[in-house]
Order: sequence, then structure tokens, then C-alpha cells
Amino acid sequence: MDKPDYHIFVCNSFRMSGEPQGICNKKNSAGLLQYIEEEILDRGLDAMVSATGCLKVCDRGPAMVVYPQNYWYGNVTEAAVDDILDALENGEPCEEYLIT
Ligand code: FES
Repeated sequence: MDKPDYHIFVCNSFRMSGEPQGICNKKNSAGLLQYIEEEILDRGLDAMVSATGCLKVCDRGPAMVVYPQNYWYGNVTEAAVDDILDALENGEPCEEYLIT
């Protein structure tokens, strides 16, 4: 199996029951998944996107994490995704949305 250069995790607020009920889902993180997938294709990035359960930073949601860099981002919108992926292509974190 070829491993991607980047693995992007987007909180979709899944709970143990499997139901998405948290802040990130209420703030359209499911829509962000689709948007990120499209951006990855448009940019030709070798990246994979996965939806996750609660990442425990709900007050900063929608939240996403980029590995292997271990960049944690909060208050993610489609505009933020553009900035975050621009920064990733430049080999740096997008400071504006980093959770520190
Ligand atoms: S619901 Fe997304 S971080 Fe908790």
C-alpha cells in the first residue's frame, strides 16, 4: 500500500452510538469533508481525508488535524481550508487557524 504524504482528519463529531451530534457537525464539518476532497484533487496533493469522532477541542470547532505534521486547526471554514492547504503546499503551518 502506498501511504499518502498527508492524512487530514476532520472532526465530524461522531459519538459512540455512531450519530454525529457535536459542535463540528452542527457547523457543517460534513460539508468541509467534501470541500477538502475537491481541493486535494484540484491541487494534485497526495493526501487522504478521514472523518473522525470528537477531537476534544469542541470550543474551537470545526476542527481538523494534518498528519504527519501534527498541525491542529480550529474554526475551520472553506476559506480557512484554502489558506491551510496553501500553507501546506508551502511546507508550513497556517498560523491563523492553529490550535496551540
Ligand atoms: S465535536 Fe468536534 S472537536 Fe468535539
